[in-house]
Amino acid sequence: MTTASQLEHLFPTLAEIPERYRPGAPIEQREYLVNGELRRWDGPLASVRSPIFLAGEQGDQQVVLGSTPLLDAEAALIALDAAVQAYDHGQGLWPNLRVAERIQHVEGFLARMREQREAVVRLLMWEIGKNLKDSEKEFDRTCDYIVDTIESLKELDRRSSRFELEQGTLGQIRRVPLGVALCMGPYNYPLNETFTTLIPALIMGNTVVFKPAKFGVLLIRPLLEAFRDSFPPGVINIIYGRGRDTVSALMASGKIDVFAFIGTHKGAADLKKLHPRPHRLRAALGLDAKNPGIVLPQVDLDNAVSEAITGALSFNGQRCTALKIIFVHEDVLDAFLAKFSAALAALKPGMPWDEGVALTPLPEPGKVDYLNGLLDDAVAKGARVVNPGGGAHRQSFFYPALLSPVTPAMRLYQEEQFGPLVPVVPYREVKEVIDYVLHSDYGQQLSIFGNDSAEVGRLVDAFVNQVGRININAQCQRGPDSFPFNGRKNSAEGTLSVQDALRVFSIRTLVATRFNPENKALVSEIIRNRESGFITTDYIF
Ligand code: G3H
Repeated sequence: MTTASQLEHLFPTLAEIPERYRPGAPIEQREYLVNGELRRWDGPLASVRSPIFLAGEQGDQQVVLGSTPLLDAEAALIALDAAVQAYDHGQGLWPNLRVAERIQHVEGFLARMREQREAVVRLLMWEIGKNLKDSEKEFDRTCDYIVDTIESLKELDRRSSRFELEQGTLGQIRRVPLGVALCMGPYNYPLNETFTTLIPALIMGNTVVFKPAKFGVLLIRPLLEAFRDSFPPGVINIIYGRGRDTVSALMASGKIDVFAFIGTHKGAADLKKLHPRPHRLRAALGLDAKNPGIVLPQVDLDNAVSEAITGALSFNGQRCTALKIIFVHEDVLDAFLAKFSAALAALKPGMPWDEGVALTPLPEPGKVDYLNGLLDDAVAKGARVVNPGGGAHRQSFFYPALLSPVTPAMRLYQEEQFGPLVPVVPYREVKEVIDYVLHSDYGQQLSIFGNDSAEVGRLVDAFVNQVGRININAQCQRGPDSFPFNGRKNSAEGTLSVQDALRVFSIRTLVATRFNPENKALVSEIIRNRESGFITTDYIF
């Protein structure tokens, strides 16, 4: 089938959608969560449009999924006050609960969350166009992350349940919360990435204001009641609206202690600047990236192509870890382009619920025009679209384009496309590639494809001080979630992983005393009589 005919039949009629995946009536969401209650917002709403269109006699009609509250600064600040009060300068119920008790709350939430799998997965498909398999994976991976977080915290707490004796000083060291956290996630992983900061923030005893991503907003709604019922009032508050109306006010209040944000470095910098006491603000940021793939002359090309195609195009290239530029040695350029192009032709365009579908519509309004602009710029400056049909589009759908030769004069060489464009830069000397990485503004990850040990080893050493992770003969990716996920330059601040996130949202505090008989007796008494939640040797099983 040609790309043109694939696009002609891309959008279904309502009747063609399997019944269990059909959109229901539009959801008008007016509720948001503040201080343990679902409040009703009577102000303006934001319309939630799906990237999916329905074919019909009137032409393609974009599906409207519903609407969400457009809170203003005042409402956002009330939510913040609830979090501030629940934390209560560290004297609140939540920051003082024993770890085992906080774990119970999170376990209760997880059980309720699992009941909403089907609803959340359906909304992932409809709101951001993620295919069924990946939507299910996102949900399940998030549940696994919560389970692993609980295990990791138990382990941490077990280690902290003992005393240390150094140079005549007896100490007990524990991790305690930081205060009020603001958590914001990205639209490409609106559940997973948000929860990888939100859950660690909560479980460590912080209180939270959470604002869902710009798309993938309605899918939080099925979880609102679970949040409300699983945590004490004010511990988790969920707000909606434009960032400039809501989040700016929160930051400017100076009452945010931890800022967890996945988005652009510009967005993060603008928001951080609003905080009046920046030295008191901790940040965990996942930001822009332009991860390069480097194909060496001695290489298993089939493996390189199969990794590069998923690396560049899974979820239509909308992953911060996607391969966003591929350097290919001239000796293998033609073979690489031919194999990549053939593999790309096998990717199936369609609707998220279609069996085996790989390419789906894009949620960002204006994205297709943006990608066209990048493509036109590259073509005008000498690149060609290598694959048949590359760049064809219809409404929100953009068929991937493999472009070569891409040069430094083109926008695609530097700009993060975050979509289905695959720029290939041919090179002769590997120094050209090293220079690109050294001078890039980004430093998240890269992939090296090759099997000459001397060359691969040399390149690894050239790059270890440039990026957070080097992948050999494998695409870039965040997982496994127990591995550190970070970046350098404009790509991140801080390190996340199941274990690291617990550290990011806490600080070590210690109680120390001179090790003499009086103090020994005093500490023993506190433990025996259970007179402190901090000084305890309780062991969590
Ligand atoms: O968007 C960035 C995500 O952290 C990438 O995660 O590599 O598992 O797709 P992933």
